Amino acid sequence: MREYNSDRIDFRSDTVTQPTRAMRAAMNEAVVGDDVLGDDPTVLTLQKRVAAMFGKEAGLFIASGTMSNAIALRTHTVPGDEIVCDKTAHIYRYEGGGYAALCGASIALIEGEKSLMTPDQVRLAIRKAEGSQGHYPNGRLVCVENTTNLGGGSCYDQATLDEIAQVAKEHGCATHIDGARIFNAAIATGVDVTRMCQAYDSVSICLSKGLGAPIGSVLVGSESFIAQAHRWRKMFGGGWRQAGLLAAAGLHALDHHIDRLEDDHRRATTIATALNEFEEFTVDLSTVQTNMVYAQTQRPASEVAELLRSNGVDLFDIAPQRIRVVTHLHITDEDVEAFLEICRGLFV
Ligand SMILES: Cc1ncc(COP(=O)(O)O)c(C=O)c1O
Repeated sequence: MREYNSDRIDFRSDTVTQPTRAMRAAMNEAVVGDDVLGDDPTVLTLQKRVAAMFGKEAGLFIASGTMSNAIALRTHTVPGDEIVCDKTAHIYRYEGGGYAALCGASIALIEGEKSLMTPDQVRLAIRKAEGSQGHYPNGRLVCVENTTNLGGGSCYDQATLDEIAQVAKEHGCATHIDGARIFNAAIATGVDVTRMCQAYDSVSICLSKGLGAPIGSVLVGSESFIAQAHRWRKMFGGGWRQAGLLAAAGLHALDHHIDRLEDDHRRATTIATALNEFEEFTVDLSTVQTNMVYAQTQRPASEVAELLRSNGVDLFDIAPQRIRVVTHLHITDEDVEAFLEICRGLFV
C-alpha cells in the first residue's frame, strides 16, 4: 500500500506514515464527545478494545508514546525510586530525561546483548532502599522495550519476558512494557499480545508507528493503575476533548493494519540480506526480525545518507557509521527493488 503524497522512498521511520483514504473516511465519520468529560464514545471504544486485546482491565488514550511512557513511569514510581532498563531504551535515550524531570527517578542501566536484557542482569541491577542503610535509591520499576528500537527491531522470547517479570515481582518492582511496536513483536514471534504481556503490570502501545495512525498511544493496565494514570495525564496537560477523531484512526488501524506488518518484516529482511552483500554495508542479520535494518557503513554514514538523499531515498544516519532503514505502510516491493537498484549504482 503506498498512498503517499511523495515519490521519495522514505525509510526514516515508521512514524512518517500518513492516514490512508480509508482511515481518513473512518475519522470523518467518527462520533465524538468531550473526552475530558468522559463522553467521547469512540475514545471509550478504543480504550476498551485495546485493554481487552491485551487482557488488561482498562486503557487510556494518550497523545504520544513518549507521554504514555512518561505517565506510566510516573504512575509506577515516586521521587527517589529507581527504574531498571536497557542502556538503549527509548525511555532513557529519547524521552528528554522525563524519568528524572517528571518522576524524580534515577535509572539503573543494563548492558543488554543487542538491547535485550536477561533475567540475571535485571536481578543484579535492582537496588532496594530497604536494608541499604539509606544508601540506595528504591528499585521500583523494571521497563522492557519490545520490539527494541536500537536493538534493530529484535524481540524478546516469551520465556525471557516471563522470567524478567518474575524477577521484578520477587523484588517488589512493578513491570512496564514500552510496546511502541508490540504488534510487530507479536507478528514476528507468533505469540499473541495477551500472552506476551500477561506478567506485566502496564503496556504502552503506539498506534502511530507501524499501524499507521496519525497520532496516539494507548496505555493499558489494571483499573486502579489507569485511574491514577488518568490523573497524571491531566497534570501533564494531556486531557483532550474531541479525541474520537483520532481514536477512529486507531480503531481503523487495529482492524486493517496489524496482519500486514508481516509484509514490512519480509521487506526488511529482503533489504537486510541484499545490503549485507555490498562491501559498503554490514548487517547483523540475527537482529532483523521485524521492520528495521541497522547497517554498519564503511564510509561515514552521513555521506551514505546524503548520496541516497540526492537519489530520492531518505533514511537516518543514526551513528557515525551506521544507517537505519525502516519499512512501513508506504514502502512497496517496487520501492525496495528501486532502492536496491540505486544502491547497485552507488556502492560496491
Ligand atoms: C521504542 C519507542 N518507544 C517510544 C517511542 C515514542 O513514541 P512517540 O514518538 O509517539 O512519542 C518511540 C518512538 O519512535 C519508540 O521507538
